[in-house]
Amino acid sequence: VAELTQLEADVLIIGSGIAGLYTAIKAAENRKVLLITKKTLMESNTRYAQGGIAAVTSDEDTPAYHMEDTLIAGAGLCESEAVSTLVHEGPVGIQELIRLGTAFDRVDGELALTREGAHSHRRILHANGDATGYEIVRALSKQVAAHPGIEVWEECMVIDLLTEHGECIGALVQKPGGERSYITANATILCSGGSGQLYRYTTNPDIATGDGIAMAYRAGAIVRDMEFIQFHPTALCHPGAPRFLISEAVRGEGAVLRNIHGERFMDKYDSRQELAPRDIVARAIIHEMERTQAAFVYLDITHEPPERVKQRFPTIYRTCLSFGLDMTTDWIPIAPAAHYMMGGVQTNLHGESSIARLFACGETSSTGVHGANRLASNSLSEAIVFASRIIERLHSLPPLVGHTLISYSDNRTEFPASSVTEQRHKLQEAMVRYAGVRRHGEGLQAALDEMQGQMPIFEAVIASREEIEFANLLTCALLVTDGALLREESRGAHYREDFPETDDSVWRKHVQQRREQGIT
Ligand code: SIN
Repeated sequence: VAELTQLEADVLIIGSGIAGLYTAIKAAENRKVLLITKKTLMESNTRYAQGGIAAVTSDEDTPAYHMEDTLIAGAGLCESEAVSTLVHEGPVGIQELIRLGTAFDRVDGELALTREGAHSHRRILHANGDATGYEIVRALSKQVAAHPGIEVWEECMVIDLLTEHGECIGALVQKPGGERSYITANATILCSGGSGQLYRYTTNPDIATGDGIAMAYRAGAIVRDMEFIQFHPTALCHPGAPRFLISEAVRGEGAVLRNIHGERFMDKYDSRQELAPRDIVARAIIHEMERTQAAFVYLDITHEPPERVKQRFPTIYRTCLSFGLDMTTDWIPIAPAAHYMMGGVQTNLHGESSIARLFACGETSSTGVHGANRLASNSLSEAIVFASRIIERLHSLPPLVGHTLISYSDNRTEFPASSVTEQRHKLQEAMVRYAGVRRHGEGLQAALDEMQGQMPIFEAVIASREEIEFANLLTCALLVTDGALLREESRGAHYREDFPETDDSVWRKHVQQRREQGIT
C-alpha cells in the first residue's frame, strides 16, 4: 500500500483549453488555483479552433436571432435557459477576452465578423484570419503563466476524481516521473475537453480522449447526450495529410462543395445549401461520396480573389500548400471528420455537476446549449460564459472539512504499449464503422459487444498515460454507443438508418447515464 503526497488547493482545474485558462484567471482573483494539464498550456483543442467565437456585437444582430439560430441547429434538444444565458452573456465575455489581451481581427477599428453554417447574421469574431483559438490560448496562457495565484502543473495526468460522502474532494494525479499525489480542493473544475480520438478520422489532437467525462462517470456523476457527436463537414482528405480542419468560415465566405465530377450538390439536400447546419452538410457529403464511389468531395473557393483568400485564411492556405494544394487555384479534397461532442457531464446554469463540489466547463460539460447539434462557433463562447458563472458559484461554497488521508493499493497490471495502441486503433475503427455519421441498431449492438470484450482493462489499476487514456476512451465509447442504441430516432447529429425519422412524441428528451443506475 502506497502513501501519497498530499497537497491542497482552493480550486483544482483540470485542463488548459479556453475553459481551463479562463476559469483559472477568474478564480485566482481571490483564491489559490492549481491548474493541471496533461500536455502544456499551449496544447489543447482550443488552440486548433479556426473559424471563431460567436457572440452578438453588431447593431444589425440581436441575442434573439442568436438564440433562434442555436435552437434551430440544436434540433429540439437545447435547454432554452442555457441558450438564453449564452446569447445574453456572451458579448460581455468577448469584452473580457479583449481586456485580457486577445486581439480579434478588425476592419476600420470595428470587430470583423464572418458567417458560418446556420447563422442568420454575421456574428463570428476571428483572429489572425483563421487562427482564433491560437490567439485566445496565447493571450490567456500568458496571463495564467504570469499570475502569482495560479500554480501550473504541465505533463501531469489526472487519474481519477476523489469523492467522499457524495462530494468531490479533489483528484489523484500522476506526475511525469510516475509519482502520484492526492490533491484536495474546495472545488474541482473539469475543463478537459472532448473525445474526438474516439474516431479514426478527427480534427482533434491526440490528447482529446474524453478524460474528464470518463472520470466524472466513474465517480458517479450524471452524463448526458453522449450519442450526439458532431462531424465537421470539411476536413482535408489528402494522402499523407492529417484530417486538418478547413474552417466553416471558408464556406461562410463563399466556398462551394462539388462532387468528384465537379457538380455542386447541396441544393439537392437543403435550401440553405453549403450553409445548412453541420449535421445536414456532413450527411449530404457522405451520401454524395457513396453515390460517386469516391473517398472525398471538393471544396471550391477558386472564384474568390486569391489575395483575399490568402489574407482571410492564412493558416489554411499555408497548410494546404504544404501538401501541394493551392486553394486559390485548386479544389480542396475534403471529407467529414469527428469534431465535437455535444454531450458530456451534465451541469446546471452554474456549471455544477450532479456531484457536490464538482464542476464542468467547455466541451467536457453538457450545459444544454448545444442540443443535438452545436451551432458553429458557439463552443468558445459557451466556455467563457459558463466559466464566469462557475466562479460566481464558488463564492457560496463552504470550506471543505474532515476528509481522510487516502492510501491506495498499487497493484498495477502492465500492458505493453503496442497492445494499448493497437486496441485504441481497433476502437477508433469500430466507432467510425458503427457509431459514426450514420448508425444502425445492429451495428451499434455489434460495437457494444466488441467493446465489452475489451472491458477487463477497467479492472486493472492502470498506470501509463496511454493506458489511462485508452480506459477513458473506452468508457466514452461505451457511453456514446449505448446512448445511440437507445435513441431509436434520428435527430441532429444522431442519424439511425433503421429509425430515419425524428420522433418528438417519445424522444424530445435527453438520454442520461449514471454508473450503477444505467441509462434513463
Ligand atoms: C470551424 O472553423 O469551422 C470550426 C468552428 C467550430 O467548430 O465551431
